[in-house]
This record gives sequence, structure tokens and C-alpha cells, in this order.
Amino acid sequence: MKVTVITGSPHKKGTSALLADKFIEGAKESGHEVFRFDSAFEDVKPCLACEYCAIHDGECVRRDDMNAWYGKIIESDMVVLVTPIYYYTMSAQIKAVVDRFHGNNAKLSGNKKAMIIASAYGEDASTMEGLEKTYEAILGFMNWEDAGKLFATGCPVREVLEQTNFPTQAYELGKSI
Ligand SMILES: Cc1cc2nc3c(=O)[nH]c(=O)nc-3n(C[C@H](O)[C@H](O)[C@H](O)COP(=O)(O)O)c2cc1C
Repeated sequence: MKVTVITGSPHKKGTSALLADKFIEGAKESGHEVFRFDSAFEDVKPCLACEYCAIHDGECVRRDDMNAWYGKIIESDMVVLVTPIYYYTMSAQIKAVVDRFHGNNAKLSGNKKAMIIASAYGEDASTMEGLEKTYEAILGFMNWEDAGKLFATGCPVREVLEQTNFPTQAYELGKSI
């Protein structure tokens, strides 16, 4: 299976980066081909809503790193979003990638599985609610099938996450696909 993992944190060695690493380790061990797109370290500009894409077969007027990635995401069987929680939802960095799906909704929709992996400082029930709702709505819109969710609450920094079972859960999630 071809799997695109899109991360959203500016922390190269942060909590969500560790979860992404462990997920990828498991997925590769199970024989899957993984493409990793670290959105915070790529040039991905926000959607301009100019609708140039609508009359140019999905080609975006933005000349940035997303253009090389449309093909990778389109050909993937699974898309995995890995993000820190920022104000109850995904980070702006990864949301910019999702918004740029707009140009290629028709080519991206259907026939894919998806997963969400997130880390956050908070521990209460509301911490992941906003992200989970957004994720499920995106899946409904894209006609993608949910294949798993991992919400690492109570993890402000990597050192705390390392003391939990969440990295193992991320590895097992990757291994299970
Ligand atoms: C701008 C910003 C907003 C944040 N908002 C939340 C929040 O709404 N809820 C929460 O529990 N943690 C919040 N946090 C904490 C991060 O989600 C948490 O530290 C996470 O582990 C960071 O992941 P990273 O190391 O992968 O970047 C926020 C952090 C930042 C920088």
C-alpha cells in the first residue's frame, strides 16, 4: 500500500514527530511504501481561492512545494495526518496542505483510507474534540474511510510522551495497516 504521512509541527524532534516516526517504522516493517511530507519545513502557501485550478485541471496558481506533492497524495491508498493540537484543532501548517486539496478534490476523493494522529498538552475530554470533528467532516467530504485515530493527550513535550505508551501505539497502528 502507498501511504502519505503529512506532519504539521515545526518541532523536528517534537511529540507529533515522534509519533510519526513510530507510525512509519511500523508501516515500513509491514511492507508499505511511505511518503513523508513535513509541511512545516516545506513551502506550502495558503489557498488563494482564486479557482484557477477549476479551469486548469487542478493546476495551482501557487508555485510552491505542493505542486510536487499532489501526485504523491493522489496515488496514495492512505493519507495520515499527524499534528500537534493548536487551539483545539490541527496546526496552520498542516491545514494549509488540506486547504490546498481544493484544487484536486475530484482526483483525491474516494478510494482512500485515512488516519489522524495528534498530540496535545491538555488531558480533558475537550482537547481533541475539535480536531476529531474536523477530521471526520473532511473524511465525509473526501469520501475517505477512517482507518484509525491516535490521540496522545497530556503530552506537552517529547520527554513526557516518551514516558507513555503512545509511541508504542503509533508503532502498532503503523504495523496494523
Ligand atoms: C500555538 C499553540 C497552540 C496550542 N494549543 C493547544 C491547545 O489548544 N490544546 C492543548 O492541549 N495544547 C495546545 N498546545 C500545546 C501542543 O499541542 C503540545 O505542546 C504538543 O505536544 C506540541 O506538539 P509538537 O511537539 O509535535 O509540536 C498548543 C501549542 C502551541 C504552540
